[in-house]
Amino acid sequence: MVNKVKELLKKHNITLAAHYYQKDEIFELADLTGDSLELAKKTKALKNPLIFCGVSFMGESAKILNPDIDVYMPKLASCSMARMAEEGKVEENIKLLKEKNIDFIPITYINSSAKVKAIVGENGGLTCTSSNAKKIVSWALNQGKKVFFLPDKNLGQNVASMMGVSSSIIGEKDWEKADIICYDGHCSVHQLFMPEHVEFFKNRYPDIKIVVHPECSPEVVKLADFVGSTSQILKYVKEHPNEPMAIGTEFNFVNRMKKEINPNIFILSSTKPECPSMNETTLKELYDLLVAIDEGRAYNVVNVDENVKENALKALNRMMELS
Ligand code: 13P
Ligand code: SF4
Repeated sequence: MVNKVKELLKKHNITLAAHYYQKDEIFELADLTGDSLELAKKTKALKNPLIFCGVSFMGESAKILNPDIDVYMPKLASCSMARMAEEGKVEENIKLLKEKNIDFIPITYINSSAKVKAIVGENGGLTCTSSNAKKIVSWALNQGKKVFFLPDKNLGQNVASMMGVSSSIIGEKDWEKADIICYDGHCSVHQLFMPEHVEFFKNRYPDIKIVVHPECSPEVVKLADFVGSTSQILKYVKEHPNEPMAIGTEFNFVNRMKKEINPNIFILSSTKPECPSMNETTLKELYDLLVAIDEGRAYNVVNVDENVKENALKALNRMMELS
C-alpha cells in the first residue's frame, strides 16, 4: 500500500499534508506536516491538488484559503470541540452579547466549522489557532473591546491568565464583566489531563518538566512548566532532548517525539489520550481514496457553500494578516 500510495500521489501530482496528531503510517508519507496554523499557511501556497489528513475543519480551512485547488480528505472526521460550537447556539450567544450592549470582537478558534467561522467573520471577528491565540486576543483587547472566545473555554481562560486579564464563561454569574467571555466548549482529549497526574509525576520524579497544550484545563495549565501549541511543544522538546518530561497532549504526537527526540518523555495521563477523530484516517483509507481518484471516482472532495465561503474567508484572512 505504501508503494502504491507514493506512486499515485506522484502520478496525479497530489500534495499530501498531515497534522502532527496523525498516525505514524500517514505522517511518514506526508509532503507537508505541521500544526493547524503551519498547515493553513503551507497549503495556502499550493497550486496542485491536495489530500489533507487531519480533521474536517482543517480541510475546510485549506479549501477556503485556496479555493482553486481540489482538496480531498481520506476521512471527513469531525473534531469533537468543533461540533460543540453549534451554529444556532453561537448565533444565540452573539445575539445575547449584543442585547447586553457589550462592545466585543468574536474570535473563533480554528477548531470550528466553516459556518461558525462565517458567523464570526460577518460580525467583524476572526479566527485564531493555539499558536497565535495570545497575539489575536491582544489585538482585539488593544482596541478597547471585550472578546467573545469560542468554542474552547479552556484556551480562552488560559490566554486570559497569561495576559493577566479576566475571563468568564457565558451565562455564569457576572459573566458580562469579564474581558474574555468564553463559549462553553472544550476538547474531549485534553480534558483527560488532571492535576493529580501532575502531582503523581512531580512526586515520583522531582526534576520532571510538565509540558501541556493550552486546551488543557486552567487547573492543569497553572501547574505546568511549559504551555504551548503543538509546534511550540515540539520546539521545546527539541531544545531539551534529554530532560525528563510529562506531556499533556495527543498520543500519536507525544509518542513520536519520545521515539525520535527524547526517550525520557512520559504521557501525562493514566489513560491513552488518543484523538478518535484524528485516528479515523488510516493508511488503508488514504490508499482507497487514491485508488478512487485514479479510477475517476474521487470522493470526500472538500467543498464549502458559496454563502458561507465569503465571510469564513474574512475571518481566516484577518488572522493570516496578523500572524
Ligand atoms: P494545534 O493548533 O496546536 O495544531 O492544535 C490543533 C488541535 O486540534 C489541538 O487539539
Ligand atoms: Fe479536536 Fe481535541 Fe481532537 Fe484536537 S485533539 S482535533 S481539539 S478533539
